[in-house]
Amino acid sequence: ARASFKEVLTDGFQKGYAVGQFNVNGLEYIQAIVEVAEEERSPVILGISEGAMKYVGMDYLIGMANAAKMKATVPVILHLDHGPHFELVMKCIRSGFDSIMYDGSHHPLEQNIQETKRVVEACHAVGIDVEGELGRIAGAEDDLSVDEREAMLVIPEEARRLVDETGIDALAPAIGSAHGHYKGEPKLHFDRLNEIRDLVKIPLVLHGGTGIPDSDIQRAIALGVAKINVNTENQDVFTRTVREVLLTSPKMFDPRKYLGPARAAIKETIRAKIRLFGSHQRA
Ligand code: G3H
Ligand code: ZN
Repeated sequence: ARASFKEVLTDGFQKGYAVGQFNVNGLEYIQAIVEVAEEERSPVILGISEGAMKYVGMDYLIGMANAAKMKATVPVILHLDHGPHFELVMKCIRSGFDSIMYDGSHHPLEQNIQETKRVVEACHAVGIDVEGELGRIAGAEDDLSVDEREAMLVIPEEARRLVDETGIDALAPAIGSAHGHYKGEPKLHFDRLNEIRDLVKIPLVLHGGTGIPDSDIQRAIALGVAKINVNTENQDVFTRTVREVLLTSPKMFDPRKYLGPARAAIKETIRAKIRLFGSHQRA
């Protein structure tokens, strides 16, 4: 069913669970994500990056998402992931997205505030909720020194300003997580997360959900994280399954025979995340 991003996140924020944003890499992903959400009675967020939008095409994307929302009885939210500029945000609003993330983290603070505010004003005017980002969330594979990683972390007072001055509905603060596969153990800065939670009082978002130990995920949720983004882990499981099937059956030519098992495999990784995040039996 169609649902409000803000309402779904606020419920998690108040009750101490997080809603998963699972990124869409094609039809099988939408099917897997929404089927599991339904089976687990969990709200769910379909994350659409600019790259995924280009790959699938906006019309197909909207058609599939609408079919999923009509079919599911649990909340299904169509969300722009890391929207890089105002124009793409407008395109998503027109096309029927439920919420958007505007990622102004590549700008200096004042400009991030200005741009995010402009996005929030446009979105709120038509009932669309907005997630903002502050600090910079790196790629896990990037070769960065400890000092360089430290410099990318969010500064709590700046987070307070971004939230107060823009009116965003959720904030993704850079606290040490990264996109992709971590080389070693990720180091999340819980002290900062704690400070930010006290200063901003809105639902927080954890990006780079792949590869973070379960105990850290639970700790983050206890400190106000109400949305967690996962992409790489599903891509990895999906591709590994396709590879295995093709290796064991070199004569196979029917795509349904390798895409089907891959879809079934990511259903189980998504189910494990939903249960870890505590969003099952909430819808
Ligand atoms: O916005 C997308 C997420 O932050 C995905 O991160 O690919 O490391 O799971 P991940
Ligand atoms: Zn992200």
